[in-house]
Amino acid sequence: MGVVALVPAAGRGERLGYGMPKALVPVDGVPLLVRAVRGLLEAGVRHVVIAAPPSDVATVNTVTAPLAQAGGAVHVLPGGAERSDSVRLALEHAVREIPGTTIVLVHDAARAFTPPEVVRAVIDAVAAGHPAVIPVLPVTDTVKRVDPEGVVIDTPDRASLRVVQTPQGFDAAVLLRAHGSGLHATDDAGLVERMGVPVVTVPGHQDAMKITTKFDLAVAEALLVGSAA
Ligand code: CTP
Ligand code: MG
Repeated sequence: MGVVALVPAAGRGERLGYGMPKALVPVDGVPLLVRAVRGLLEAGVRHVVIAAPPSDVATVNTVTAPLAQAGGAVHVLPGGAERSDSVRLALEHAVREIPGTTIVLVHDAARAFTPPEVVRAVIDAVAAGHPAVIPVLPVTDTVKRVDPEGVVIDTPDRASLRVVQTPQGFDAAVLLRAHGSGLHATDDAGLVERMGVPVVTVPGHQDAMKITTKFDLAVAEALLVGSAA
C-alpha cells in the first residue's frame, strides 16, 4: 500500500499577517509545516510531497530535511498561484517520481495539529475500498443561506451539515482524473464529487482546525500548553 501525502504549503498567509509564509510561522519554535509533516509521518505515511512558497523552497528543504526517517522521505517543490495549482503540481510529482503510489492524501500545512489518528482513519477507509474520504465535524452553529444583500433565503437543516477538514484521502487514479478534468471546486473532494464519485466521511477532530487568523494561532498555542500539562 503506497501512501503519499501532498502538503499544499505555498500560501502567503495574508490573513494571519505574520510577515512570512504561514507554513513557516513557528508555534513554540516549531514551524506549522514541520508539525503537519511530523503528524503524517507518525501516522505511517512514507512519502510527503510539499508544495512550498516558490521563494522559500530552500528554507522549506532545510526545516523539513531532518524529518525524513527510515523508510520515509520528504520531497519539496515550488507550489503554484492557487491552492489547487499547488496540489496538482505535487500530485504530478508523486505520480512521476514515487513508484507504487496508490493512495494519496491532501493535507493543508495550516492544519498543523491534526492528530495522527485522524490521518490513519482516512487511510484505512481508502484502503478499505472507498475512492474518496474526508474527515468532518458536526456544525454547532445554525447556518443561514443569504442573498447578495444579506437577506436570509433559508435555514438548511443543521443535522445534515458537516464542516470539512484535511487530510482528504483518495485513490490515486481518481484524484489524478479529478485534477485533469478541468473542473473547479474549493477542495479536492469537491472535484471528485463533481465527477460523480462517492465521497465518504470519517470523524474529524477539533485539533485539526485550520490556522487562518491570529485568533486561530492563539488557539493553537493554547492547545500546545494544554497538551503539555
Ligand atoms: N496553499 C498553497 N498554494 C497556494 C495557496 C495556498 O499551497 N497558492 C496552501 C496554504 O499554504 C495552506 C493551504 O493551502 O496550507 C490552505 O490555504 P490558506 O489557509 O488559505 O493559506 P494561505 O493561502 O497561506 O492564507 P491566506 O489565504 O490568508 O493568504
Ligand atoms: Mg489562501
